[in-house]
Amino acid sequence: MSKASSNTLRQGETQRVALTLNGRVRSGLCETRDLLSDFIRHELGATGTHVGCEHGVCGACTVHIDGVAARSCLMLAVQVQGRRVDTVEGLAPDQTLGDLQQAFQRHHALQCGFCTAGILMSCADYLQRVPDPTEEQVREMLSGHLCRCTGYTPIIAAVLDVAARRKQRNESPEAVHA
Ligand code: FES
Ligand code: FES
Repeated sequence: MSKASSNTLRQGETQRVALTLNGRVRSGLCETRDLLSDFIRHELGATGTHVGCEHGVCGACTVHIDGVAARSCLMLAVQVQGRRVDTVEGLAPDQTLGDLQQAFQRHHALQCGFCTAGILMSCADYLQRVPDPTEEQVREMLSGHLCRCTGYTPIIAAVLDVAARRKQRNESPEAVHA
């Protein structure tokens, strides 16, 4: 593959995209048509982000773009030039699980784990905006995700648990990265 010499790329030409991934400045090459999900996984090596349906239905590929949850399979890699992207790896930057992840562990809120990275990223974003949600609100938030093996009850319990513990500690919501 050859490097592009202008903003207009021909098929097969690549361009370099620079971003801040989980707090670190990174860059990689991509074609204009490359999905952000593939760029994150294959070019940047952050394979914690999973890819299921590739058309915005399952939520497995959810990451944060400038702090807001988004489906990475519905974005192109070139769209994150200069932006901040956080993935599930950023929830445990020093290999220590964050409180949301610990709650999932406590409540057995995952089995195969395929959906989990995306759900964690949606929950992390949601709890920043709605720190004390009702069960109904959590159910509605999770309606954007498909989990094929755990069932949603323990996931809901984990989210409500972490919200309650944060409230009890009068703690600000968990930062996604250090
Ligand atoms: S892989 Fe992106 S929503 Fe399913
Ligand atoms: S834990 Fe297996 S799909 Fe959700």
